[in-house]
Amino acid sequence: MRMSHTMPKGSRKKFIVVGQGGREHALSHALSLSPGAEVLVSPGNPGMDDGGLHFLESFPDDPKEASERIAAQKPDVVIVGPEKPLVAGLVDCLQARSVPVVGPTAEAARIEGSKLFAKEIMRQSGIPTAEFSEVTTVDEIRTLVRKWGYPLVLKEDGLAQGKGVWVMKTEDDLKEVLDRYFDREGKKPTTGRIYAEKGLSGPEVSYIVMTDGERFLPFPTARDFKRIGDGDTGPNTGGMGALTPVPGWTAKDDESARTVIERCLWGLRKNGTPFRGFLYAGLMKTPSGIMVLEFNARFGDPEAQVLVPQVGDSFSELMEGLAKGSLPSGHDFKGKPTVGVVLASPGYPEKPVTGGKILGIDKVRALDGVTLYSAGIAISPGGGKTDLVSSGGRVLTVSAEGDTLSAARQLAYSAMGLLHLPGGRFRTDIALSESLEHR
Ligand code: AMP
Ligand code: GLY
Repeated sequence: MRMSHTMPKGSRKKFIVVGQGGREHALSHALSLSPGAEVLVSPGNPGMDDGGLHFLESFPDDPKEASERIAAQKPDVVIVGPEKPLVAGLVDCLQARSVPVVGPTAEAARIEGSKLFAKEIMRQSGIPTAEFSEVTTVDEIRTLVRKWGYPLVLKEDGLAQGKGVWVMKTEDDLKEVLDRYFDREGKKPTTGRIYAEKGLSGPEVSYIVMTDGERFLPFPTARDFKRIGDGDTGPNTGGMGALTPVPGWTAKDDESARTVIERCLWGLRKNGTPFRGFLYAGLMKTPSGIMVLEFNARFGDPEAQVLVPQVGDSFSELMEGLAKGSLPSGHDFKGKPTVGVVLASPGYPEKPVTGGKILGIDKVRALDGVTLYSAGIAISPGGGKTDLVSSGGRVLTVSAEGDTLSAARQLAYSAMGLLHLPGGRFRTDIALSESLEHR
């Protein structure tokens, strides 16, 4: 574990990061670079173990029990990474025990946990978003196709890990999605609540801020690449790559995005559910201006792997301020062009095949300007500490910085070339200038 030997013992700060993916690796790695921070991750994963972090066993799913176990560690600050424990109320339980925490309460996290709740907040707060209508029968959806035409988007109300959204462009797409969601008579969805939304078009931007509920500090802009295949083909995934900053983002766009965040925070306060933590607006730059596709109640993944490193070595200070209600009024982000490419297991996202041996991690770690963030990695059964195998859909992200996006992209792909995972897949067009132009 990394510790500052010049620092008096009493002034070390203890951080606990809850979660185990690439986002949590990015958060905990950045904390571990801050002077005087002791960083514990629960549960993390073995691919994160580069000597800078401590690991705690997984906390129970029950938020009360988890908060008891976390409080027993006497942390100075807790950061809850994924949406599931946020929606389950882990932050509420930690606050009840007076543990300083970065993350929204369960009620505020509904901005992600229920897309229909998010739509209602957007309506009340005057946030531009696509027209929508809750649907319960196939006939209602067909009526909306006649009214709005294609593309028509069908969305599940609840958490779906990026997979509950279907953009339908043709009658064939519509049939496929209807088969998925409806019983044979077409009278009742086979899942929870769903709604249809008018299709929008334009480049997408992930706009992520740190907020105490009133004031906020935006990160530089990012873009993620959600589809599995090159040229944005195939099914949606959790995210196959990311870049920052977004080319072509103007001061006017930024003003619109800030207004979106201000209104959302206002709406949530007015609703009696103020939001503290990372608020993520998924934006689309449409011909009629910036519109919101979704809100998330947490940092994006893989956006975190390109954005968190932009903070520099004061990330622990910022997180402590955020948890304790003293967010600074500004921050000097590095603003270094950065590209992240995700390596996924064969069969991802439908049926990931795990257990493949991963080679080359040490070679990538030795590269300047490249950081490897581990997600679905485990120690091979019966193997040594460095005997690593894939254990999830998304296995890792290589994140590379450069003087330009094109230099960062080149470095990220040369790092990817040093890695080997049998059948492993990654997109080859992340941050490719051609693919940016038509997005
Ligand atoms: P969401 O989880 O709501 O951000 O949706 C996932 C992805 O589906 C987005 O990143 C977009 O690529 C696409 N999408 C969502 N809503 C729309 C929409 N109204 N029009 C076009 N594409 C959409
Ligand atoms: N990268 C998209 C998300 O984190 O939801």
